[in-house]
Amino acid sequence: MSVESPQKIDTSKLDKIMAEYNYDKSNLIAILQKVQEEFKYLPENAMTYIGTKMEGLSPATVYGVATFYAQFSLEPKGKYEMKCCDGTACHVRGSMPVLNAVKARLKLKDGQMTTDDGLFSVETVSCLGACGLAPVVVINGKVYPQMTSDAVKIVLDTILSEGN
Ligand code: FES
Repeated sequence: MSVESPQKIDTSKLDKIMAEYNYDKSNLIAILQKVQEEFKYLPENAMTYIGTKMEGLSPATVYGVATFYAQFSLEPKGKYEMKCCDGTACHVRGSMPVLNAVKARLKLKDGQMTTDDGLFSVETVSCLGACGLAPVVVINGKVYPQMTSDAVKIVLDTILSEGN
């Protein structure tokens, strides 16, 4: 997967987005949403650039806002975006063993969201609206119901064996 490296960020795209919002710091969240739409995540030096270009902001402030809101991703997403539900219904039916099996199978370290090869990104969500099928995992929009740690490993093995 090609991930846009920090050095390759096109700052003209950032300038365009900030200009759309008049470089107004009260629009920072909307600006960050647009940047995330553009790059699929918030690259660190995009946040630094915004923090130095906009009056009344600093890179630290921009970073603080980006990390406060769960909607922002500071890491690039994988080719396969996996959401593991840990809402109440899924939790009581064993979502944690499923999540642990996912992390072990994909060799994700603590706090790591995207695999080193960029193939998978894994996030925990609080409800996917399919509580009757708990515990639920969604991969690129496809719902996998009633997961167990063994079942989720089979799902991952199948995807991995498809020659990705
Ligand atoms: S709690 Fe998992 S789908 Fe609702």
